[in-house]
Amino acid sequence: MRQHVNPLSRFYQLPLELPGIHELYEKPELPLHLDIGCARGTFLLDLSPLEESWNHLGVEIRQPLVHAANKDRVELKIKNVNFLFCNANISLHSWLVALPQGVLQRVSIQFPDPWFKKRHHKRRILDPSLLASIANTLGVGMQLYIQSDVFEVINSMRQLVDISECFDSSKGLSSPWLEESPMMLPTEREAYALEKGIPIYRLLYIRNENKFPYISAPCEMLPNEIRLINTNVNTL
Ligand SMILES: C[S@@+](CC[C@H](N)C(=O)[O-])C[C@H]1O[C@@H](n2cnc3c(N)ncnc32)[C@H](O)[C@@H]1O
Repeated sequence: MRQHVNPLSRFYQLPLELPGIHELYEKPELPLHLDIGCARGTFLLDLSPLEESWNHLGVEIRQPLVHAANKDRVELKIKNVNFLFCNANISLHSWLVALPQGVLQRVSIQFPDPWFKKRHHKRRILDPSLLASIANTLGVGMQLYIQSDVFEVINSMRQLVDISECFDSSKGLSSPWLEESPMMLPTEREAYALEKGIPIYRLLYIRNENKFPYISAPCEMLPNEIRLINTNVNTL
């Protein structure tokens, strides 16, 4: 199994038409938790029986992991979880636009691939366009949770979220870091980091009432070269 795929390669740039929410769940009206980059799906397979009043959706770019997660879901007969293969940066936008208003209530991006080399930063998952799609779909008061064990990665995500001005830190600006995850269970990477004593940086944001601004800088230019045109253009 490949550890990483290049989300910018031609194959992964092809947009996929994802099944609508009504095709994914028995009760599509339940609040939806979207976990972006869910890998093998263990976290959501364990969480979904504990949160039966929610639907959970994992999206993942490595197709064999999605197949394995969906096989488990069927075998375990869990009705409130599903997994979709896609490049979140390419195919999520139109899926989110088509969601009934108010359904999406929590988004998590946990331990995203760090892509350490500067020339690979543009492969990192949270870019202005994905953040715009999330911000435009999450209702006021709803949650965006991000965590990483790489400070530089969480910091560039944090800067991007902060300059959008669409989210308030659940803990206030001076010390926004959470000591513990607000989720009931750790992800696979989180369990590994906890076992090894690796520091984990966690941020929980609450969607506020601001419109998403037009952010002109590509994410790989963050954190030093952020340029933000704050014109309330809501078109990303
Ligand atoms: C380091 S793993 C973390 C997995 C899991 N969230 C955890 O905390 O254990 C990051 C995951 O994000 C997936 N991923 C990376 N880029 C993606 C993209 N553009 N769209 C969807 N998934 C992506 C990777 O394939 C990988 O499984």
